[in-house]
Amino acid sequence: MKSAIKANVEQPAAHLRLVSDRAASGTAGITLSGVSKTYRSRDGDVPSLRPLDFHINEGEFFVVVGPSGCGKSTLLKMISGLLPPSTGEILVEGEQVTKPHGNVGIVFQNALLLPWRNILSNVMLPIDMKKLPREQYLARAKALLKLVGLEGFEKKLPWQLSGGMQQRASICRALVHDPKIMLMDEPFGALDAMTREKMNVELMRIQRETGKTVLLITHSIPEAVFLADRVLVMTERPGAIAAIYDVPLPRPRSLDAMADPAFSELVQRIRKHFFTQGTLD
Ligand SMILES: Nc1ncnc2c1ncn2[C@@H]1O[C@H](COP(=O)(O)OP(=O)(O)O)[C@@H](O)[C@H]1O
Ligand SMILES: [Mg+2]
Repeated sequence: MKSAIKANVEQPAAHLRLVSDRAASGTAGITLSGVSKTYRSRDGDVPSLRPLDFHINEGEFFVVVGPSGCGKSTLLKMISGLLPPSTGEILVEGEQVTKPHGNVGIVFQNALLLPWRNILSNVMLPIDMKKLPREQYLARAKALLKLVGLEGFEKKLPWQLSGGMQQRASICRALVHDPKIMLMDEPFGALDAMTREKMNVELMRIQRETGKTVLLITHSIPEAVFLADRVLVMTERPGAIAAIYDVPLPRPRSLDAMADPAFSELVQRIRKHFFTQGTLD
């Protein structure tokens, strides 16, 4: 039987052409053209990312896996505008990224909720910072909390919630100003395995219901395959694209998708990159 798994790293020319065509037409989604990063430090230069070219489609669930220190967080910071690339160009929704911009919602590894604000005020933080009309967004914040199962916890302080609940609140905070794009840097890394699975299912549901474009970084290969439309596998630092795989699992997915032979086949295939290269985080 022929494998259903396709890697498109074998056709770099076609891939590059696709990126520049989209860049030229200013398509929605995220486009990276020749984006690299070298940190300048007193001890010398630290090359962190080789020039990367890829495009993330609007509404796509795109997941990046790679070894520790290969430049995953650097990539996410550059797309959010928090860090300038050393070379190349990043387009988000057709606009070049030159500074932090409101087109994205960001979720970090730890929930990073403000301890003195209750859950609802934490979710409302982007609205306050952007000075958007509070009344208009209050209903939205409450609806999001309901969507992630936190109805009734609006007035609680962060310490009164479990780690998983805090992380769900931080996802609401990233969604409240209705960005088209969600950038998530190992968002479930601090959670226990069962909570993590629940969060995966919930995140997929939110993504389906809101139609967001999601770029998620993880060091869990099964998590990557379970969530993604496509998985980008990175090499060791300085990070480059080792492969991009289409995930051949139908949607909507439940945890049963992990019992699909195509799931284990792709997980194995991605693991092989790291057996030959060294270890994952
Ligand atoms: N501010 C910085 N100055 C110098 N080197 C950095 C800085 N931030 C990250 N690095 C280096 O760049 C590489 C990539 O870092 P990072 O993007 O955090 O990797 P990852 O998220 O994949 O673990 C690492 O080797 C790290 O040491
Ligand atoms: Mg990181």
